[in-house]
Amino acid sequence: MMRKVEEEIVRFSVSVPKEIFEFLEDYVSKTGYASRSELLRDLVRKEIIEEQWKGDKEVIGILALIYRHHERNVVENLLELQHSAYLNILSSLHIHLNEEECLEIIVIRGKPERIKSLEGQISGLFGVEFSRLIKAGEL
Ligand code: NI
Repeated sequence: MMRKVEEEIVRFSVSVPKEIFEFLEDYVSKTGYASRSELLRDLVRKEIIEEQWKGDKEVIGILALIYRHHERNVVENLLELQHSAYLNILSSLHIHLNEEECLEIIVIRGKPERIKSLEGQISGLFGVEFSRLIKAGEL
């Protein structure tokens, strides 16, 4: 049975310049946010994750990459880097996009610096055409 986590909600008022208020109103109406509060909660959560990635506690990173698997040693190099990175590779998904290109999504748990370092090494590999690291928060 799923346990429902009840979050305590605190209300406080915020003063902002009219220009920012109008931006919030406009942004909420243009996007799918249910309310200004929901938008602000989401923005703050993103900042919390950015702060967590400056620290030393383990976080989750999602690395998406596209590479040409025929290029010399790229598959071996990718595996070697993942095995030797002292990170916990939680899962990876591989999709053969076409005859030449592969899309891979790797879910990683570890210290932010190590995840960023792995991303840097992978994006620099010959044959890797695209890489993007998505930051998720602490566990
Ligand atoms: Ni493939």
